[in-house]
Amino acid sequence: MKIAVCGKGGVGKSTVSSFIIRALLERGRKVLAIDADPSPHLARLLGFDDSDITPIAEMKELLDERSGRDGPFYNLNPKVDDLPERFMKKKDGLSLMVLGAIRQGGAGCACAENAVLRNLLNRLLLSKDEDIVLDMEAGVEHLGRGTIASVDHILIVVQPYRGSIETAEKIDRLAQDLKIESLHIVANNCRDEEDVRFIEQLCGRKPIGVFHFSPETARAERKGVAITDAAPELVKEADNIIARLEKA
Ligand SMILES: Nc1ncnc2c1ncn2[C@@H]1O[C@H](COP(=O)(O)OP(=O)(O)OP(=O)(O)O)[C@@H](O)[C@H]1O
Ligand SMILES: [Mg+2]
Repeated sequence: MKIAVCGKGGVGKSTVSSFIIRALLERGRKVLAIDADPSPHLARLLGFDDSDITPIAEMKELLDERSGRDGPFYNLNPKVDDLPERFMKKKDGLSLMVLGAIRQGGAGCACAENAVLRNLLNRLLLSKDEDIVLDMEAGVEHLGRGTIASVDHILIVVQPYRGSIETAEKIDRLAQDLKIESLHIVANNCRDEEDVRFIEQLCGRKPIGVFHFSPETARAERKGVAITDAAPELVKEADNIIARLEKA
């Protein structure tokens, strides 16, 4: 299955992505994790050594070369097929590709560079023999119809505060415009039943999963070690989410 994880800044997209990835691996699946966050740190959360990882979005020379930019002209279908092999990190059934931020069109848009990143993302999403988890920025708008069409499920992470749920509603509307059918709320950082109820009431629906506040996860993140080893109960909840998505 191909899952995209989005939500307001700091709500726990990378945390939720990491536990879903871990749960898929524990099911014996091969997983491709794609980090499309402007300040990517999924590698560290998953226990990769990230000291030698440069996001593709920051490889200026490579992007210039592939985009074939010449003044205002650039290649709309740049070559990317060799890039996964060159830049993918691998470990125990898990592959990781760190893309970095893919920007939306419009004023100040680095469109030539984005054509390369978007092409690469689309190519990665075509992978047939792996499950995919895409850790994104807030919304889905910068992805475009073609890209989003290759994702099976979208998870919007929210926390028990109004701002995160307002962002989720915006994403929900955009997703509906893009005709995405499988879209679900994941409640994160809940401390008690009241937190879960607040989310249910404001979202007007039940979350597909609830991640409780996990001091072990917070501690592992601060230490800079893999969070996925720190909280088996969050792996379990991620596994429940996968089971529900499979039925959806
Ligand atoms: N359930 C949880 N229990 C404890 N700490 C959590 C939990 N979820 C997230 N955190 C902590 O909150 C912080 C933000 O989480 P995370 O990086 O996953 O958010 P994000 O949405 O990916 O952020 P960004 O928008 O910057 O990419 C991290 O320090 C993380 O360890
Ligand atoms: Mg993140």
